Amino acid sequence: MFDPKVETLLNKQVIAEMYSANLYLSMSAWFREKSLDGYAQWFYVQYKEEMDHALIFYNFILNAGGKVKLGQVDAPPHDFDGTKAILKKSLEHEQLVTSLIYNINEAALSVKDYKTVQFLDWLIREQVEEEDNASTNLERFELFGSDSLGLLSLDEEMGSRRYSQTAQVAVLENDE
Ligand SMILES: [Fe+2]
Repeated sequence: MFDPKVETLLNKQVIAEMYSANLYLSMSAWFREKSLDGYAQWFYVQYKEEMDHALIFYNFILNAGGKVKLGQVDAPPHDFDGTKAILKKSLEHEQLVTSLIYNINEAALSVKDYKTVQFLDWLIREQVEEEDNASTNLERFELFGSDSLGLLSLDEEMGSRRYSQTAQVAVLENDE
């Protein structure tokens, strides 16, 4: 069972994670159009991870006796002002997501909902990693991305990222 405010925020987060997924898929498409297939791969993996995050929230709501209420996911942008603009936007987006998760944590603490506080622990740590990845991507682009050879090598490096299903999803799916 949930406090209604916490339950609403958790449901909003499912939608926010789906929006994140679509935002990164849209960025991935932009990179593919520009033949930057390594960046496209990196953002495609990011899309898959965001869908995992959505499912992690979805499973938690259900497992803890709440009601899942899916809603409309806003359309992501499809036109971007270049690689640097995308990398900057993805960092800003992760900072926003962190603040949303902190808000849920504060709401949960205020009603002594410790199961939600404990659940959010992993996601808060994950956000540290997400922000770190996004700022590293931006910094490396600023350092090496200004000439075509540097960009080629960055693109190759970004392309080495592979998706593996987040352990949290597997654990929760096995609980069903
Ligand atoms: Fe996420």
